[in-house]
This record gives sequence, structure tokens and C-alpha cells, in this order.
Amino acid sequence: MSHHDERTFVMVKPDGVQRGLIGEVVSRLEDKGLKMVGGKFMQISEDLAHEHYAEHEDKPFFDGLVEFITSGPVFAMVWEGADATRQVRRMMGATDPQDAAPGTIRGDYGNDLGQNIIHGSDHEDEGANEREIALFFDEDELVDWDLGTATWVY
Ligand code: PPS
Repeated sequence: MSHHDERTFVMVKPDGVQRGLIGEVVSRLEDKGLKMVGGKFMQISEDLAHEHYAEHEDKPFFDGLVEFITSGPVFAMVWEGADATRQVRRMMGATDPQDAAPGTIRGDYGNDLGQNIIHGSDHEDEGANEREIALFFDEDELVDWDLGTATWVY
């Protein structure tokens, strides 16, 4: 898959779902010109949470993170586009919503480090996007489709 078709994993976390921000997040990524190729409204199990956040196992906030991400449904997605992983991270803003710039998703909607609305694969962690996509989606749940020619019309 070329750089132009890079796929990345994105998830509206339980706080974002509860606050009715699924549409807002989807809308921003659509407006940016990224293409959704997979989407699933789901409850994350304890096991999946541990696997997804395995790299943070030794961090003091790990238990709270698992508790939070399993506290209610999430909206897991796969988005495709040029440099998609880095693009989504830039649109998310800093991990701590209090540091996130206005205009970013966390900067505009978040106020608490533990509850930062959205997760996106780390673009500095090589292969994190592919790993996370595989963890949440079967290959046949991802759809290859064409945005069409009028990609500049929003
Ligand atoms: S680190 O330490 O730099 O690797 O952590 P970071 O990549 O910034 O964050 C990893 C995920 O943990 C969440 N996080 C926290 N949750 C609760 N409390 C505290 N103090 C905290 N610090 C970080 C953070 O939102 C990241 O979640 P994801 O889902 O990966 O965005």
C-alpha cells in the first residue's frame, strides 16, 4: 500500500461517545479529505484493552486507562489517506487537552488528561497503525472504495 493510501486507526473514546461527539469527529476527518474504510460501534473487553495499551502496562495510569476505555462503548474506525496517521494526530492535538491547541479536537472539546475524547495511532511508532487496525478489525470488515472525483466538494 502506497504512502498515499496509508491507513490509520482512530477511536472515539467513551467520553466522546457519551458527549455526542462521534459525528463531530467523523465530520472533521471527512472535511479534511480522509476516507473512512472501516467503522464499528463496540464495547472494548478487558482483554482487548490490555492488549491495545500493552506498551503502557508499567505506567502508573495504566489501571485507570483500562477502566476508562472499558467504561462504555467506543466508536472504532479506520481512515485512509496520504500520511493519514500523522494527519489525524495533528488534528487530535496534544495528549493533554489542556495543552492541546484550539482548533484541534482535544483543544476544542477536552478538558481533562484522562478523558481526551479520541485515540489515534502513534505516527512515531513504526507499524502502530497496522497493529491497531489488526487488533480491532478483521480484513473483511475494511472496505476498499473510491471517494470519486469531486473530493474537493464538502
Ligand atoms: S507516554 O507516557 O508518553 O507514553 O503516554 P502517552 O503516549 O502520552 O499516553 C498514552 C495513553 O495514555 C493516556 N494517558 C493517561 N491516561 C490517564 N491518566 C494519565 N495521567 C495519562 N497520561 C496518558 C493517554 O491519553 C494516551 O491514550 P491514547 O488512547 O493512546 O491516546
